[in-house]
Amino acid sequence: MASLGGNIAPSESVISPQVFVSGLAGVVFFTLGFYQLSTKPSQGPQDGGNDEPGIIKSILLFCYSCFLKPHSRAARGGQQGALESFYAGQAGVYDATRKTLLKGREDMLALAAAQLRLKAEKEDAGAGKKRIWVDVGGGTGWNIEAMSEFVNVPEFFSSVYLVDLSPSLCEVARRRFARLGWTNVQVICEDARKFRLEDYGNGLSGRRKSSTRSPTSYFEPRPDHGGADLITMSYSLSMIPDYYSVVDSLSSLLAPHGVIGVVDFYAQSKVDFSFRNHTGGLVGRHVNYLARTFWRAWFDLDRVSLEPGRRDYLEYRLGTVLTANLRNKALGSIPYYIWLGCHKKPFSSSSLPHEIIERIDALATESPYLVPSNKPKGPDALTRAVERTAPELRSKAFDAAVGNLSANLPLPSFFYQNHHWRIYYDDQLEKHTQFNDEYIYAFTWEDSKVDASLLKLGADDVVLAITSAGDNILSYAMQSPARIHAIDLNPSQNHLLELKVASFAALPYEDFWKIFGEGKHLEFRSLLLSKLSPHLSSRAFQYWLDNAAIFTNPRGRGLYDTGGSKHAIRVFRWVSRLFGCRKAVDELLAAETLAEQRQIWHSKIRPALLSPLVSSLVVSSEAFLWAALGVPKNQLAMIEADHAASRAVTGPTPTATNTRSHAIWRYMVDTLDPVIETTHIATDNPYYHVCLTGAFSPRCHPDYLSREAHAILSKPGALDGLRIHTDEIDEVIARIAPGTLTVAIVMDSMDWFPPTTPTTTEKNTKNNSNPNPATAQVRKLNRALRMGGRVLLRSAARKPWYLREFEAHGFATRCAGDRGSGQAGNGGDGGKCIDRVNMYASCWVCEKVANLPPPTPGLGAAEEHAGLSLEGGDEGADLLRL
Ligand SMILES: C[S@@+](CC[C@H](N)C(=O)[O-])C[C@H]1O[C@@H](n2cnc3c(N)ncnc32)[C@H](O)[C@@H]1O
Repeated sequence: MASLGGNIAPSESVISPQVFVSGLAGVVFFTLGFYQLSTKPSQGPQDGGNDEPGIIKSILLFCYSCFLKPHSRAARGGQQGALESFYAGQAGVYDATRKTLLKGREDMLALAAAQLRLKAEKEDAGAGKKRIWVDVGGGTGWNIEAMSEFVNVPEFFSSVYLVDLSPSLCEVARRRFARLGWTNVQVICEDARKFRLEDYGNGLSGRRKSSTRSPTSYFEPRPDHGGADLITMSYSLSMIPDYYSVVDSLSSLLAPHGVIGVVDFYAQSKVDFSFRNHTGGLVGRHVNYLARTFWRAWFDLDRVSLEPGRRDYLEYRLGTVLTANLRNKALGSIPYYIWLGCHKKPFSSSSLPHEIIERIDALATESPYLVPSNKPKGPDALTRAVERTAPELRSKAFDAAVGNLSANLPLPSFFYQNHHWRIYYDDQLEKHTQFNDEYIYAFTWEDSKVDASLLKLGADDVVLAITSAGDNILSYAMQSPARIHAIDLNPSQNHLLELKVASFAALPYEDFWKIFGEGKHLEFRSLLLSKLSPHLSSRAFQYWLDNAAIFTNPRGRGLYDTGGSKHAIRVFRWVSRLFGCRKAVDELLAAETLAEQRQIWHSKIRPALLSPLVSSLVVSSEAFLWAALGVPKNQLAMIEADHAASRAVTGPTPTATNTRSHAIWRYMVDTLDPVIETTHIATDNPYYHVCLTGAFSPRCHPDYLSREAHAILSKPGALDGLRIHTDEIDEVIARIAPGTLTVAIVMDSMDWFPPTTPTTTEKNTKNNSNPNPATAQVRKLNRALRMGGRVLLRSAARKPWYLREFEAHGFATRCAGDRGSGQAGNGGDGGKCIDRVNMYASCWVCEKVANLPPPTPGLGAAEEHAGLSLEGGDEGADLLRL
């Protein structure tokens, strides 16, 4: 591919297959490019000068320079000669011809600007801050002008340095900044490998201000960090022959908390990166064999190098904050990536990476983070103390970080995030990939009001709960407990919670409402890049970038038509259409009173929806129950067992047979009838409202979507106590400090376990053996909970078998809701609505009343360590806040 230019293709006397393929592709490329240029209106910054050439002239020049012009000065002028030979003739049309080709530049700038703006907010509105930006291989300065879409460049940056080796492009850049009147931008025509800020009076502690460097200064060691708050490289890394040298120099240019933004072409196979955990996620990174071979050969012609080493080395030398793998669809799907990075070694107050790891480990495990009281002794005391205090309690994040440090690799990207909400996990494990990057629940099916009244959370509570769609986690957060550990095995459920949390942090209520209330926001992609991205982990960012169309597709049905639960909504939609009751659904939603609602339900909707036909054909199928409602087979067995034992089957005058379809039909009736009888869907039942309409409404929505909730949860630090774990509950509680949790909300997750029998429970309790996962989980819960701590659970069974396990392992159980079964007074005791979802047959609170042997250690052991304190002065307070 010749359009980037820069280096010279050797003259070929024979047409090699590589040249032939590339030539062919050139024609395709040219045609597509021409089409783009001639159909798209000009966007973004203008050309450097005022004499912008016409489209035809630009294209002709572009083609001549790229495909025909002999590159004569390469051998004589080194790299600069090569660049000049290529760019001199086309510098004036460079910008016009690169808009389509150099894709993602604005996105990278938006991401970098978002990070800088967040840092500026933290630095007290950035008052008086001297901010420096170095654009390496900056060409014509297009990026610097384009940045003005995101920040006011002349005001936000005190100095901007454009460093480029091509005099012709530098000249265009100079004209651009003269036209704009931006006096804070300096165009430096220099080899990026040699550029040093101190040569321009912006080094560390003003070391050198002269523009001439003494030869001996090159013997001085390069500093660990420099003064640039932002360094960008857009499509230049792939062009600089000695990329090691330029990547190495980035650390000594970058300020301690500075950001690096890179956008460039790449071609990598999964063999290159599969076993790395520091790359910030791998979504869409693999490029297939044909595309890899083709694009490498094509770009090779101009010595624009797509070999994996460039990106790999960048990721090896620096820390990854965010990354995304994309394709330039307008030009044959050329693979390109956007990457945001920072220093590999985090700069904490003591600049010791292991201190940061210890701190994040403490966040995940509820272990106290111990700050040495005697600061000069520093980290050694800290390390010893942490090891003495809880040698066995290490999060998986800690293990991964230590593994990386010992191999001299950067930390996993979670450690470089602005927030430590999301805890590191290994996304390549089958237990996570089994979900195929799809969440099941787009909204949470548990009544948050009932949870609130049962739990009455206070400021001392340390809560562990299943994430699901995150709605209830946010309702708990509104009650301001000390900590919430949200857990889900499905990474995408946690991505959804992260998106909600980031939206609280970054968006005004109106945008928040559109995204999660209406489920659609046409500007979602740009909000994601320019506002939400600094609050997301790299993996959540990639996920939402990949799935932005959920919110932005004008013809799509939005967020609530996604995930496994969409199948339930769709079946309802089809059934209501099939039975001609769509209009009745609208009437139900408009019903002003419960009486009106009941009448519409019984006369028009119930006969269709609860017809035995629907139940036996659709709803009772195991595949549907799993895909749409997340009902696993053990839970299904509980429903069937309750049905088999019910009076409807065993009573003197049976009204149902002992079959799966009857069991499911009965279960649906027991769920839905009481809901319609007792809750007003249009105003007070968001769970069914969203199923019927595909959206929430201003008068009917979950608590977390209210304006008041937004006011509470968008306050700075409001969600600092949140930890999002991607793992099994079991794995997380096994690593939580004993005796620290006060509440565990496990929803219906224990229904998923294979059941025990009374005999095995008794035997296992006596032997203290551990054959059943439910038993193991109950024991771990006992250990993690404080005395008096509670487990809140729901079950599809009226009395789930595992209550026996709780009772045998130090818990007292109490039924907090039993909806019964069958029609009351007609052989049954049903008809009760235990919450607005009423989806589960029962709800239980299990209170810890006894410790299991070995006894749960009391809190406070950590504080007893000599020479250590939890508070550790200002620094301690700061760390503990995290
Ligand atoms: C494809 S252009 C990208 C220009 C600009 N960043 C943009 O996005 O429009 C690559 C740039 O890298 C510059 N370049 C290549 N090698 C360089 C080096 N050793 N030092 C400085 N700049 C270099 C070229 O002159 C060219 O301007």
